[in-house]
Amino acid sequence: MIQVIKHVDNQIDMISMKNDLLEVVVSNYGCTIMKVLMKDKDGHIDDVVLGYDDFSQYSTLDAYLGALVGRVANRIKLGKFTLNNHEYTLAINNGPNAIHGGIKGFSYQVFDYEIKDDETIIFHYLSQDGEEGYPGNLDFYAIYTLKGDTLKIQYKATTDQDTLINITNHSYFNLSGKKENIYQHLLTVKANQYACVDKDGLTTGVFNNVKDTPFDFNQPAYIGERVDMDDEQLHIGKGFDHPFILNAKENQVILEHPATSRRLTVSTSLPIAQIYTANYLDGRLGKYGQHYYEKDAVCIETENLPDAIHLEDNPSTILKKGETYDEYTSYKFEVI
Ligand code: BGC
Repeated sequence: MIQVIKHVDNQIDMISMKNDLLEVVVSNYGCTIMKVLMKDKDGHIDDVVLGYDDFSQYSTLDAYLGALVGRVANRIKLGKFTLNNHEYTLAINNGPNAIHGGIKGFSYQVFDYEIKDDETIIFHYLSQDGEEGYPGNLDFYAIYTLKGDTLKIQYKATTDQDTLINITNHSYFNLSGKKENIYQHLLTVKANQYACVDKDGLTTGVFNNVKDTPFDFNQPAYIGERVDMDDEQLHIGKGFDHPFILNAKENQVILEHPATSRRLTVSTSLPIAQIYTANYLDGRLGKYGQHYYEKDAVCIETENLPDAIHLEDNPSTILKKGETYDEYTSYKFEVI
């Protein structure tokens, strides 16, 4: 069942997608996932994502809680890139680099939307040529479908000029319902390698093997046993804030909270998941009067390689005129 539950103002709505197992509340502001309400092993319902009660915080604060991020998620070195012999300049909004689509990226835009079959919301946004410095009119769709215990998000885009695109969802998960931080969450990431970052969080082009490092989550491991280990890349990131190169085609990332028996399984068509342990949450006020601190949540940001335009021979983040960007990520919320 889909219900528009509140008009925040004339254009911005909150929309509830609900069935027996799950309620997901989203907004057409940034296609933001505001709530995910699920049961635990005793039938107790909690909200397993971070967010704000005061809606205006979504537009004034920059942690991207629950937001869809675009046109290009993660960092672009020095906010500059060359495409078809033309140099493009982006806003520098993260140290010396550009991040997450710019000052007013997709996370801060109002999408139009349509509800289909009582289980799907088709969000749409036409990003104008030159918006936030990117070329081409980009016609973008994000299709959210709730079926049983799974929320699937499909992303589709076309452009009238070659451009860049790298979409992610920036939900902050805490399967305890934020009763505790994420140290007692078990994480599995099917990846043999991760991308190293510099002190500004920018991918350097160096890929490390996870074997014999705190980054090896091929077998489930408690985040709390890993995140404070003495490791240069963990020090640089102030925790996990790294792209993992996925080596499986589905169920690539699994997060479990044994005390409540909640499990989240992420499957994606994208090759990478940035695992970010909320290292920069600063005590801000979130939902239910709770304050959010570092390590209070984990983001699983599925995407193409950050800064691919500078690091890859055939950058996976280029969308050519006439091509369609078509990717998905699904989130299965189970009680095990
Ligand atoms: C980045 C973090 C950043 C966060 C919020 C993540 O994707 O990797 O370094 O603090 O987004 O902008």
